[in-house]
Amino acid sequence: MAKRLLLLLPLLLGADEDFISHYEYGQMLYNNPRGVSCAQCHGKSGEGKVIVEYRDIHGKQKLQGPDIRHKSFEEMKKSINSYHPVMPRYYLTDEEIKTIYDFIQKKNTEQSQ
Ligand code: HEC
Repeated sequence: MAKRLLLLLPLLLGADEDFISHYEYGQMLYNNPRGVSCAQCHGKSGEGKVIVEYRDIHGKQKLQGPDIRHKSFEEMKKSINSYHPVMPRYYLTDEEIKTIYDFIQKKNTEQSQ
């Protein structure tokens, strides 16, 4: 039994490297970055989403997360690293932002096929 485990060990360790793909990592970050999920405000694939509807003295209002599917990587980086009235400020590295960006791009090419 112990011998079998030892034989498996290199396999288990070797599996670590490609354990999750770049796409899966992007999906993970998009859905669960440090803080609030992007999906909560920008929809599952970045298509945008109504966050909340409310009523004030001007009537019915809604707060909406914009469609971010066509934002360039540079635009994304700028948005994620700056202050907004609604969107939280994230402290993500360029690499993490790029991964999220790649995820949104890939997810949306899959859907249009
Ligand atoms: C609490 C809701 C919320 C969350 C969470 C959120 N956003 Fe946003 N985002 C917004 C809103 C609303 C705007 C429009 C600017 C504003 O009013 O803050 C915006 C703007 C943007 C923009 C710029 C869009 C434009 O039209 O220029 C990008 C890119 C973006 N968000 C990406 C992200 C990513 C990636 C995440 C996750 C790391 C994220 N957002 C998380 C609500 C959110």
